[in-house]
Amino acid sequence: MEQKLGQLKTILAEIADLSGAAALLGWDQQTYMPPGGAEARGNQLGTLQRLAHERQTSPELGKLLEDLKPLTATLDPDSDEARLVKVGARDYEKATRVPSEWVVEFAQVTTMAQQAWMDARSKSDFSIFLPHLEKIVGLAHRYVSFFPQADHPYDILLDNFEPRMKTADVKVIFDALRPKQVELIKAIAQQPQVDDAFLHQDFDDKKQWDFGVGVITKFGYDWNCGRQDKAAHPFTTGFSNRDVRITTRVAPNFLNSMLFGTMHECGHALYGLGSPDALERTTLDGGASLAVHESQSRMWENLVGRSLPFWEHFYPRLQETFPSQLSNVPLDKFYKGINKVQPSLIRVEADEATYNLHIMLRLEIEIALMEGKLAVKNLPEVWNAKMQEYLGVTPPNDARGVLQDIHWSGGIIGYFSTYALGNLVSAQLWEKINEDIPNLSAQIREGKFDTLLGWLREKIHRHGRKFEPQELVQKVTGSKIDAAPYLRYLSQKFGQIYGL
Ligand code: CO
Repeated sequence: MEQKLGQLKTILAEIADLSGAAALLGWDQQTYMPPGGAEARGNQLGTLQRLAHERQTSPELGKLLEDLKPLTATLDPDSDEARLVKVGARDYEKATRVPSEWVVEFAQVTTMAQQAWMDARSKSDFSIFLPHLEKIVGLAHRYVSFFPQADHPYDILLDNFEPRMKTADVKVIFDALRPKQVELIKAIAQQPQVDDAFLHQDFDDKKQWDFGVGVITKFGYDWNCGRQDKAAHPFTTGFSNRDVRITTRVAPNFLNSMLFGTMHECGHALYGLGSPDALERTTLDGGASLAVHESQSRMWENLVGRSLPFWEHFYPRLQETFPSQLSNVPLDKFYKGINKVQPSLIRVEADEATYNLHIMLRLEIEIALMEGKLAVKNLPEVWNAKMQEYLGVTPPNDARGVLQDIHWSGGIIGYFSTYALGNLVSAQLWEKINEDIPNLSAQIREGKFDTLLGWLREKIHRHGRKFEPQELVQKVTGSKIDAAPYLRYLSQKFGQIYGL
């Protein structure tokens, strides 16, 4: 068994290295590559991805996994080795179902679609994107057809982001969430609005940047194993557990973009940096799922970064950094301002109370597309109607409506719900963390985050991708993904801010 495990790890290490190299090219593309490099970069990425895919689907790998299954059956099912074979076999089984013609066509269609989407968005003209999105939805239907029939066709797509999560599970969770969130937003709307005008002033770029760096250094972001650069759409990417990089954007007239974006990406990076050495260069390095990843980023961004104890520590420093803008704004006003609830058009700018509704709308649309109950050409109309129904706002144009997100143009369907699930998991973990670390608020008030990070390392990060998301959440909190803690968090926090 040892020998075969060694062989397996050798192949997996090669795949990991190819993927890491591709990720580095991707990072460069979004940060420093001059525009003229795009075409050659596309070729380079294509070659690396093809090589990785060939290895991921090689008969040699399949044979090894098959041979190892009975051998590892005697091991502790939660051991690294048993999980390596289990997760590896699942990945292999999924990768080999998809014919390479589909992979090639998908790459071609989505490359064109992303160009068309950018054009459509800049002109606010959905018709430019329509034929491309129709092809993408067609490809998604074909992708589903490669797999044995599931309870719901959408399950196959969701599984790529949340292993073994079912559409029906997500519906149950969201059904519990939706009415309560709508009710809360309506109650808030009846109250006097908080003032956040002070956030929209002129804030020096470099000073903002440095402040953000100071915050995430205190969070525990290790600059020896990371770096921060600017990007139009902030993201985190890692090439090993010793090199996880973040990006941020700085808006000169709005403090929130840099502040919360930086903390968010740092949360993702801390997860990647906490992946254990023993799982490096295997299929088990990195994170459990996108929802679990998002639970980490949202925790540092919101449960920590938008909390009062956090600002009791950092606000005097922020005032020192921006005296002319903030010296007359008391802490309480600042805290309420950064937590202002207002239904709005754009998902990525949404506050904590309204965010999940943006997700539910997208999920419903994606499910309807996969059920064949919604034609792509009717998307703008359905989008606008749902925005009005859930948030009480109607986009003035498609750029600020159905065309706002990049995901569909990249062929990514099944992803959106992980954002909302991540919010829920962050609050679930937070309740548990506060039980385990009773003086956490006092620690945060002193700018101390090491106990919190240690908890996350121990309970979440060190498991890498060994456990499925529901399994991991159950292990740590005692229950599966559940909307109740997030609802408790929202009503407690916003009840206080809005005097409900
Ligand atoms: Co994120």
